[in-house]
Amino acid sequence: MHQHIRPIPLFLSLILFSVIVIFFPFSLFRSGSKVRSIIWEAPRVSEWRPCGWWKDNKGTLEALPAKNNGYIRIDCYGGLNQMRRDLCDGIGIARLLNATMVLPKFDVAAYWNESSDFGDIFDVDYFIERTKGYVRVVKELPDDLKLGEPFKVDCSKRKGQFDYAEEVLPSLLQHRYISFTPAMSQRRDRYPLHVKAALCQGCYNALRLTKTLETKAQELLDAIPKPFLSLHLRFEPDMVAYSRCTYPSLSPSSLKSIEIARNSDFIISNKKPLTGPAALQWRSRGKCPLTPTETAFILQSLGIQSNTFIYLAAGDELMEIEGFTSIYKHVYTKSSLLNHVDFDSMHGNTKAALDYYVSINSDAYVATYFGNMDKMVGAMRAAKGLYKTLLLNRRAFANYSTKGLEGEDLARVLWEVHREDFVTGKGSALPDCFCEFRM
Ligand SMILES: *[C@@H]1O[C@H](CO)[C@@H](O)[C@H](O)[C@H]1NC(C)=O
Ligand SMILES: *[C@@H]1O[C@H](CO)[C@@H](O)[C@H](O)[C@H]1NC(C)=O
Ligand SMILES: *[C@@H]1O[C@H](CO)[C@@H](O)[C@H](O)[C@H]1NC(C)=O
Repeated sequence: MHQHIRPIPLFLSLILFSVIVIFFPFSLFRSGSKVRSIIWEAPRVSEWRPCGWWKDNKGTLEALPAKNNGYIRIDCYGGLNQMRRDLCDGIGIARLLNATMVLPKFDVAAYWNESSDFGDIFDVDYFIERTKGYVRVVKELPDDLKLGEPFKVDCSKRKGQFDYAEEVLPSLLQHRYISFTPAMSQRRDRYPLHVKAALCQGCYNALRLTKTLETKAQELLDAIPKPFLSLHLRFEPDMVAYSRCTYPSLSPSSLKSIEIARNSDFIISNKKPLTGPAALQWRSRGKCPLTPTETAFILQSLGIQSNTFIYLAAGDELMEIEGFTSIYKHVYTKSSLLNHVDFDSMHGNTKAALDYYVSINSDAYVATYFGNMDKMVGAMRAAKGLYKTLLLNRRAFANYSTKGLEGEDLARVLWEVHREDFVTGKGSALPDCFCEFRM
């Protein structure tokens, strides 16, 4: 959806933009030196904001039906941002089926010794209040359903696109109270507007952390020197094992951790690392996670000064971090900033919530991978008008480095590719709930 809010400035800014694009890059590169303008200064041609059809038009959406078709509990698994993704899908499905949602179930792996249900992470009353008029949410089931467990519908087994009205509605009508985990592939494009609106409102305008968590996260945010960039650096053994990529130059201890991750997970161990031409092709398609060294190189290419304050939004198992910290010296982590907090005993999802909060409040956000966290953070930053967001373009990096480009030559093309991504908003990959406003 394109909305031209200010047609004349658009025209002018396009002229300006073309002039800058054509003449600027060359003047910025003093030969042999690494001085170039910071990526955020590139003038953007469009800005992505929450679309009006869900954010401002609640009154014009189809009213909630007087009678519901039953009750739905969304069962969410995995890490915090994966659970949230499933919750977001589930909100849309509940509205599609004219069902009332009970609070979702946030399931956490048994080895995390801390309770962490939906209400331990997100503010329940706020969620109910903010979804009013979009979808019905209740804390408690009616008395006649209260004692029973929901009927579990399995959405995972079906192949191809998944149609909830066809597959799930009959169970809902029959049992009145069902639970399921949303399937990955569904026909969201066919949803009516009021269903998409429920999903967008519920996901991007109705979730905030509990007071307890927010206080903890704010303490962390306050401790970071400003202005700062939050960097989601995802170079952990599980990710590398899962990617099927090989990195021969890693340290023996990193290689060992990757091997352990590969052997401890059935899904991963089914996927052996690629070799030969297949590996090369895989890499050139941008499938391989960026190493800390590569990340530092790209950030430098983007004109991000090495004295920038950087918060590392990353897990505990980050590998080869010296490749990054040898260049960027002002790097902060949770444990360096809050050294009175015992992070070892902290729940994985609590830590993820801290990283999430810092990342939706930082001056800039850069992600090396396009995962669930990056999708959520990118969207929330756009919702808040924080535009300095960029997912690094692994594909371009692989493309040009396998062609033999290096040093300043590589840096220059990377700057150009990322500037294009930033200027058009392509580099923050936002969901359908966001619309492009031409500047
Ligand atoms: C939900 O209610 C709307 C009317 O508000 C109706 O058009 C639609 O067919 C209903 N869908 C289901 C699955 O009951
Ligand atoms: C889990 O936490 C409880 C309460 O904090 C504690 O009593 C218990 O020993 C812990 N269990 C493990 C396995 O760490
Ligand atoms: C890969 O490089 C070629 C030029 O060598 C360029 O035309 C193409 O757009 C690049 N692809 C990506 C994904 O960067």
